[in-house]
Amino acid sequence: MTNLRSFIEGMPKCELHVHIEGTLEPEMKFQLAKRNNVQLPYKDEKALKAAYDFDDLPSFLAVYYEGMSVLLTEQDFFDVTYAYLTKARSQNVRYAEMFFDPQAHTARGVTFDTVIRGIRRAQLQAETALGIRSQLIMCFLRDWSAEFAMATLLQSLPYKEWIIGVGLDSDEKNNPPVKFAKVFQRARAEGFLLTMHCDVDQEGSVGHIWQTIRDIGVNRIDHGVNSLEDPGLCEEIKHRSLALTVCPISNAYVTDGSKSQAIAEMLRRGMRVTVNSDDPAYFPGYMNENLQRVQEEIGLDKQQLVQLAANAFESAWLPRATRDSYLAELRAYAA
Ligand code: ADE
Ligand code: ZN
Repeated sequence: MTNLRSFIEGMPKCELHVHIEGTLEPEMKFQLAKRNNVQLPYKDEKALKAAYDFDDLPSFLAVYYEGMSVLLTEQDFFDVTYAYLTKARSQNVRYAEMFFDPQAHTARGVTFDTVIRGIRRAQLQAETALGIRSQLIMCFLRDWSAEFAMATLLQSLPYKEWIIGVGLDSDEKNNPPVKFAKVFQRARAEGFLLTMHCDVDQEGSVGHIWQTIRDIGVNRIDHGVNSLEDPGLCEEIKHRSLALTVCPISNAYVTDGSKSQAIAEMLRRGMRVTVNSDDPAYFPGYMNENLQRVQEEIGLDKQQLVQLAANAFESAWLPRATRDSYLAELRAYAA
């Protein structure tokens, strides 16, 4: 099989599914713990990494939330965001839409203002200093109440200009999309674009994906791999040109495999599938490693790799002209 590693590395890319808190690398976790006098329950980075032994979504989420205890000041949020954007830029990611989980911080007494100002400052600095553009998607935690989500939405309104859309993440079990119908209806009325996680191989995955379309009216679906179990659902997703943000290395950690074959099938069906990194500090691999993994597993050719990147730029929540200029850059690279 042709090795397309350098082709992948050089390709202009767009990331649509990455959690800022999921980019907190072990080294920075220890640095911030020291700076903030937070005691981590691990003696060193090696012991910490040994705990990254997930076999499903809840076992990952427990470690993910524990790790956030070191994020306390605006500077901490700046540092973690800037480090991600630096890494992404080094991999030729030209544009990223990044999730953040404000409730995971406000519930610990860190203010919404602290979180978003740190992130925003990093975005602006990275755009000027590194040439990587980014936007923010605010996620609600689905294992908390709809009331808490609504209160968070209202709290975010003064910062509306800094947030392009809202999403839904955390533990999906017994927390279907419809639980948040009112919150998402209000978010849409406020001008936010909408997406939701439909994590892989969950109880009722197919029904949940239908809910995001029929009951919520999402503009995108995060993961959504199980849509392939229902041909009618695939047609609906295609008909609505909804992007699916698939995360292969993440899948390999929390499900029975990377689901690379599902990516091949979605490409074959002409669905707008994209490849992303999710929580790269926990599921080791940023954009290039995720694309390489799929390329190696199913033998993607250059044209298919370009299609995956084009799907992402086309689905980015950016003005038409901006998307077109990224797509032109991608086409020039492919030629
Ligand atoms: N929070 C961070 N990463 C997540 C994922 N992959 N699924 C659900 N919630 C998350
Ligand atoms: Zn995710």
